[in-house]
Amino acid sequence: MNQDELKRVAAEAAIDYVDGGIIGVGTGSTINHFIDLLAKVKHKIDGAVSSSEASTERMRTHGIPIIDLNAAGELDLYVDGADESTKNLHLIKGGGGALTREKIVAGASRKFVCIADVSKLVSVLGEFPLPIEVIPMARSHVARQLVKLGGTPVWRENFTTDNGNIILDAHNMRILEPRKMEQEINNIAGVVTTGIFAIRPADVLILGTEEGIKTL
Ligand code: 5RP
Repeated sequence: MNQDELKRVAAEAAIDYVDGGIIGVGTGSTINHFIDLLAKVKHKIDGAVSSSEASTERMRTHGIPIIDLNAAGELDLYVDGADESTKNLHLIKGGGGALTREKIVAGASRKFVCIADVSKLVSVLGEFPLPIEVIPMARSHVARQLVKLGGTPVWRENFTTDNGNIILDAHNMRILEPRKMEQEINNIAGVVTTGIFAIRPADVLILGTEEGIKTL
C-alpha cells in the first residue's frame, strides 16, 4: 500500500468513533479521507466544527452542516491528522498551516482521535520542521528567539494562515521535553501558537500500517 492508502485505512477506522452529536474535524490529506467517509454517515451527526477553511469547503460540498465552535459547546470527539507523533501521543502538527484552529478545537473536545500513516510515528519529535504561527510584525523577533532555543527558523513564504498570520518552520529541533518546549515557544511575544501538541496530546492514535490498523 502507498502512503495515501495507509492514510485512508486510518481514516476508515476513525469512523467507528463517530457516535452522533457534533464532530470536530481537522485538516490535511488524511482528514480529507475522513471527511469523504464522514459524508456517508452524515445522517448520524448534527454537524461538524471545522479547523480550517479548506476542511469547511470540503465538508460543505458533501452537505455536512458546519457549526460555529461558539455555538457548539464542548465536543465529544475531535479527529485530526499529524505530521509526527510519539508513542506518548505528543504531536507535531501544522504542516498544512491550520495549527491554531486545530489546537482550539482539540482543546474544546473530550476525545482527540489522531489518524496517520505509520511513517508519522517517531521516537523524538522534531525531524519534521516545527510549524509556528506568528503575528506578521513579530516575524524577526520570534525567529531570533527560536534560534536561541536551538532551531533554524524558515519563513513559509507566500503563505498566510486562515487567521491572517505567517508561519515559521523551525528546522533542527530535537524536542526531548515537548510540554516544556510548547510552553516556552508559546510564551514568546508574537507567537500565536506552536505546532507542538503535548499539553493537550491526542487520546488515541490510529496508525495505518501494511498489516492493518495499529491503535495506541
Ligand atoms: C494541518 C495538520 C495536518 O494534520 C498535518 O499536516 C498532517 O497532514 P496530512 O494528513 O496531509 O499528512 O496539522 O495543519
